[in-house]
Amino acid sequence: MTALEESVRPGQFFHIQCSDDWRNLLRRPFSVYKFDRRTRILEFLYLIKGSGTQALMKKRPGEMLDMIGPLGKPFSLPAGDASILLAARGVGVATLHALAQAVPAEGRRAIAIVSAQKRDDLLAVDDLRQSGAQVYAVTDEDGTSTMDQVGKLAEMLIEDYGISAVYTCGSKRLAKLMQNLATIHNLYAEIAMEAHMACGLGDCYACACPIRKEKGIEAVRICSEGPVFPLRQAVLS
Ligand SMILES: Cc1cc2nc3c(=O)[nH]c(=O)nc-3n(C[C@H](O)[C@H](O)[C@H](O)COP(=O)(O)OP(=O)(O)OC[C@H]3O[C@@H](n4cnc5c(N)ncnc54)[C@H](O)[C@@H]3O)c2cc1C
Ligand code: FES
Repeated sequence: MTALEESVRPGQFFHIQCSDDWRNLLRRPFSVYKFDRRTRILEFLYLIKGSGTQALMKKRPGEMLDMIGPLGKPFSLPAGDASILLAARGVGVATLHALAQAVPAEGRRAIAIVSAQKRDDLLAVDDLRQSGAQVYAVTDEDGTSTMDQVGKLAEMLIEDYGISAVYTCGSKRLAKLMQNLATIHNLYAEIAMEAHMACGLGDCYACACPIRKEKGIEAVRICSEGPVFPLRQAVLS
């Protein structure tokens, strides 16, 4: 068995038993948000949505949590030391924060576009900055998050920072924009995809989603074949 500090990678997730309640019979997946290899402290960033996340919220310090992980395929970095661009909407920023936290050790810098409906909904901005990322926050409230504006911002960042790779999570529209920019600028690009999960281990196909492969569109299991995929393979329409 590999020690936790050696096996956790950005892009991976843990499948968490949120409570013993029948409504939470199925585990819920949460991305690695922060991981400190020295202290072995693992952090998640989650939005409260339903019974699972409500039960998680009620956990108290010191309580045991039953979780399986790390699971899934992590992000990859292309060769070199060029800066990378992260483009996240909402809580999609969680998994990208883990990547931002890891890249300084690779001699790289992360530039992050963080998008949300309102200024108060912006997540992880301070943590991203603390991890060394340059952050550009955009919101619907300020009228700065339209695809036109984010496209112009991303074009500028790609040029100014000599970006070689782009990573996205949390919004199909944002992912589509990044897919186009990656094609135009010939960038390495990945997406962290989401789906409802049951087993989380590749056995039940509950998380099957379409992905573009050489022979056409195929169903893949997000939990075991992803959640990270090449962005060019994502079916976003
Ligand atoms: C690989 C992966 C990583 C994830 N990482 C995070 C994370 O870091 N932080 C975070 O807040 N959330 C994350 N999620 C989403 C998280 O798993 C769900 O929000 C959670 O399972 C909701 O559980 P619940 O019992 O609170 O809500 P439920 O009662 O299960 O659902 C509440 C509402 O959310 C919708 N929903 C539930 N799961 C998903 C999903 N996967 N995609 C879209 N809609 C969904 C349901 O349709 C329902 O409308 C991740 C999902 C995946 C697949
Ligand atoms: S959740 Fe069972 S195969 Fe993915």
